[in-house]
Amino acid sequence: MNYFQELINEICCEDGISFELISKEWIIKLGKNRINKYIAGTKMPLNSETTFLLCRDKYATYEVLQSEGIPIVEHRLIYYTKHVKSYESDLNSTSEFQDYLNKHKKIIIKNTCGSMGEDVYMVKDMNKLKSSLRKIFERNDTAVISPFMNIEAEYRVICLDDEVELIFEKVRNSNSWKHNLCQGARAQLLEDADLKERLTCFALQVMKALNARFASVDVISVDGGLMVLEVNSSVCMSYFAEQVEGRT
Ligand SMILES: Nc1ncnc2c1ncn2[C@@H]1O[C@H](COP(=O)(O)OP(=O)(O)O)[C@@H](O)[C@H]1O
Ligand SMILES: [Mg+2]
Repeated sequence: MNYFQELINEICCEDGISFELISKEWIIKLGKNRINKYIAGTKMPLNSETTFLLCRDKYATYEVLQSEGIPIVEHRLIYYTKHVKSYESDLNSTSEFQDYLNKHKKIIIKNTCGSMGEDVYMVKDMNKLKSSLRKIFERNDTAVISPFMNIEAEYRVICLDDEVELIFEKVRNSNSWKHNLCQGARAQLLEDADLKERLTCFALQVMKALNARFASVDVISVDGGLMVLEVNSSVCMSYFAEQVEGRT
């Protein structure tokens, strides 16, 4: 049993829910009062399939939230066209990519549906841009490109059914520019009541826009203002729980 499954098992014992691992331990079968529910991997049976897809795809999240006027880091789409072994984008030519680089000085390129900070590259010139795209396209058909944001702080707001359940700051490890807990960042609970209130209002607006029931909203502070970086509808709290329990 992995750590996530141990946590779910503990909750089931407390709440009188039966717990069974099936399908080579990929699926958790939960039962109570003759009703069964299933957790597949770490995916809970709470969000619609559409919400899951909108959150999984960083470009789709951007389009939806932008269309609702919610501040979110700009994402541009680049997609690989296999038959001509080339890529297409809303930045049409190499010179437009160069203009984008000149304008922002530093940009971020990432796998559209990535997670855990993998395949997220910081780019300052065309050579690195091309090599990063090549790496992403080895395994994926699309990538996204964003301006590098000067992140003052990154927060994770975990929401369930119109309520915020937990907020913590992801404090970067000094030798990484990424705020992923799995890449060395530390989770720190927030004490500042005003900031918690601002994050709560902001995240619940995001949840509503995506019709999400259960998700974590990653919010960054830039020049004192709040912006969405990404939303995860598969909430996996293993790294947070391990840190809080002092297992790392
Ligand atoms: N546009 C950006 N500007 C600055 N840092 C970024 C940007 N996009 C991502 N990052 C950094 O990279 C980390 C991982 O990126 P993210 O979009 O959250 O992807 P993942 O799903 O892999 O966590 C973020 O926590 C943040 O620290
Ligand atoms: Mg992230």
